[in-house]
Amino acid sequence: MVHIAIISASIRKGRKSHRIALFFKDFLEKNNHATAGILDLLAYNFPLFDERLKFQEFPLPAVLDFAEKIKTADGVIIVTPEYNGGYPSSLKNAVDLLYDEWHHKPVAISTVSDGPFGGTQVITSLQFSLWKMKAWVVPATFPVTRVQDTFDENGDPKEKSLAEKRAGNFIHELLKTVEILNH
Ligand SMILES: Cc1cc2nc3c(=O)[nH]c(=O)nc-3n(C[C@H](O)[C@H](O)[C@H](O)COP(=O)(O)O)c2cc1C
Repeated sequence: MVHIAIISASIRKGRKSHRIALFFKDFLEKNNHATAGILDLLAYNFPLFDERLKFQEFPLPAVLDFAEKIKTADGVIIVTPEYNGGYPSSLKNAVDLLYDEWHHKPVAISTVSDGPFGGTQVITSLQFSLWKMKAWVVPATFPVTRVQDTFDENGDPKEKSLAEKRAGNFIHELLKTVEILNH
């Protein structure tokens, strides 16, 4: 079975987008689409970026763990909030640590906001950074609007059938790319 790493990007106290990472882990596993693990940037607590991992003399165990988990995952879901029209510094701080690990890595982006637009303004900047590192960002999105009302703290959606239908379409694009790459 394929393995998907889910990056939960918000490290904010009271963060809400983590709910979507929980939702995807549950969705992937209960439907036997994949095994899944959450790479929680709050838990990793990386220091402010000063150099890429491959040029670090004494890399932190947390950084090595993150790199290994991205490298060995068949695909990656990035769950990111939108902060002032961009993605959070916590995410930039983590993605720039790696380079070769992103090559040919299928990546699907889910954007999250507490308002009506679902954080979609993040897409182009994040997609471009990943493209520069030769990741394969799939042409599917999973914008989440009003996250505080639409998903509970455990990642359970209020409108389950709608959320699962949308998630199915999103995951299909990611798994299709994984399948093509694995052939
Ligand atoms: C610094 C900052 C900037 C934000 N900018 C936006 C924004 O541009 N658009 C938007 O829809 N929500 C914005 N929000 C609200 C987030 O959508 C909201 O916090 C949401 O819950 C997702 O982020 P979280 O996972 O950190 O909670 C912003 C929040 C913060 C903390």
